[in-house]
Amino acid sequence: MQDEMIEKGRQYLANTYNRFPIAITKGEGCWIWDMNGRRYLDFLSGIAVCNLGHVHKDVLEGLTTQAGKLFHISNLFFIEPQVKAAEILVQHSFGDKVFFCNSGAEANEAAIKLARRYSWTKYGKGRHEIISMENSFHGRTLATLTATGQTKFHEGFEPLLEGFSYVPIM
Ligand SMILES: Cc1ncc(COP(=O)(O)O)c(C=O)c1O
Repeated sequence: MQDEMIEKGRQYLANTYNRFPIAITKGEGCWIWDMNGRRYLDFLSGIAVCNLGHVHKDVLEGLTTQAGKLFHISNLFFIEPQVKAAEILVQHSFGDKVFFCNSGAEANEAAIKLARRYSWTKYGKGRHEIISMENSFHGRTLATLTATGQTKFHEGFEPLLEGFSYVPIM
């Protein structure tokens, strides 16, 4: 059953990730299970996304309560849970304001844009260079792909964005 699912996945999913040949069906705390019922200790946490563990009871309760009230409303309106989450983040970080986004790539895009805008406002034009590390990975949008310090991710997507350079880590 799992092998069939993996074969179907290879047929229908875009070839953008080098996936392990395992289909995960459920998680609980730091454990996950595949389609054959085999249990794994999950050290990856969705690449640091599920830091509270899988199916944490407070997260589950928050999600199901909210799903019963409102799935989506545009950012053209204020949304109470969003405002509350932003307040908590500001109170526990260095920042004054929060920009919520959908992915790591979008967060990195925002960081690149913020850095450029800050420099443009404070120092004027011409200080737009973004320096990233060789062998780094920053996402799959055009800007984050350009920031990614690995040529194999660049090939075939040129022309890349201007103003990026790469340095060795050591
Ligand atoms: C270090 C790093 N930066 C950025 C990203 C991009 O995140 P996303 O896939 O959510 O766009 C990833 C994703 O694996 C990542 O590992």
